[in-house]
Amino acid sequence: MPTQNFATLDDVQTKDKRVFLRVDINVPLDPSTHSILDDTRIRAISETLGRLEDAKVVLGSHQSRPGKDDFTSLEPHARALAEYCNQEVKFVDDVIGPQARQRIAKAEPGQILVLDNLRFCAEENIDDKPEKLLKTHFVKQLSPLFDLNVNDAFATAHRSQPSIVGLTDALPSVAGRLMEKELKAISTLLQEPHRPCVYVLGGAKVEDKIPVIDHILTRNKADKILLGGVPAKIFLKASGKKLSSRDEQEMATLGLHIETAKAIMKKFSEKIETPTDLAYEESGGQRTDRNIDAAQLKDSALDIGVRTLERYSAMIKSASTVVSNGPLGVFERSGFDLGTKAILESMTLCNGYTIIGGGHLVGLASILGIESNFSHVSTAGGAMLSLLSGQSLPGVDALIRAAERMKKTKDNSL
Ligand code: 3PG
Ligand code: MG
Repeated sequence: MPTQNFATLDDVQTKDKRVFLRVDINVPLDPSTHSILDDTRIRAISETLGRLEDAKVVLGSHQSRPGKDDFTSLEPHARALAEYCNQEVKFVDDVIGPQARQRIAKAEPGQILVLDNLRFCAEENIDDKPEKLLKTHFVKQLSPLFDLNVNDAFATAHRSQPSIVGLTDALPSVAGRLMEKELKAISTLLQEPHRPCVYVLGGAKVEDKIPVIDHILTRNKADKILLGGVPAKIFLKASGKKLSSRDEQEMATLGLHIETAKAIMKKFSEKIETPTDLAYEESGGQRTDRNIDAAQLKDSALDIGVRTLERYSAMIKSASTVVSNGPLGVFERSGFDLGTKAILESMTLCNGYTIIGGGHLVGLASILGIESNFSHVSTAGGAMLSLLSGQSLPGVDALIRAAERMKKTKDNSL
């Protein structure tokens, strides 16, 4: 992976420069009060902010997507940011309008001006080709106001949107510290991970996990893939197991993924580990574990069973690299967090390189207070999985183009 092909904050002067800083502080919010439930992504940009103390920083991020309950203003984020950095933080409830442009023009060094939710601009919600993004109103309004663009939004680098790709193509642009750190951590996994290397994949989405399993195994970068959540059900089905009637109904809609899983199993069955027992909720609300070869209950399985978590935990503890993304079950429901908690705790007991990603897993690690016990906690979900499935990230590709442009023009003013 081309971590060395883009420029970083070590390559530029920032004193008194007007800097657009794209971050991803899209965080879980309380649905009714909109107070911040997990500030991991806000704390993660502090090193970049510290490096930019001499610059006039204008910070942009999105929060959620249009139509969702947590699609709101960035004002609470600005308040939270003020607690973590030494600079004065000011908020403007505008993105590209006259108010925002005037405030950007008057920005002062040592201050951070936080723009409102970038996705309040319709153009920021559409993925498009770089040449189209350059022509957006968003890029045309903002780019003339800045000397430098810093992209620290690793968790959004898989989106080809105006603030991620358009501004990077329009301005001298470098990667922020978090972007550098994340790319370095994940590139280790794609190069020569220490063996044995174990992946633990769960969650509700399969479309972004199956390509990872395929890519990592085809390139021989993992020794075991331990499955939970919906990916486990897909592979159990692919190997001919019978699930609960509710799970069978769900699997009936995922036929293509089951076919892909069968093809993966044909080549790599000895590397794929599926649960030997699953946990269900009994009518009284109690947890009950069922062996996979016994009759299953009617409703969906909500966690991996205890025998499975013991088997997985042993493999995790003795591995030299462990990568985990997605919870192993519906951990929000009382009694069904056993599998996910056990996986996280076993990772903290592993002496190898450990990395977790995805909002749910990272949020749980933070609630358990064990975040600092992992080698790397990624702020990304989808972007991490895109990289691990062999895709390039549009945000990183744009940074590489920017470095080539900056080299050609030998722009020494930066
Ligand atoms: C995320 O949390 O997945 C990132 O902030 C990107 O957001 P998106 O998936 O809505 O583009
Ligand atoms: Mg996402």
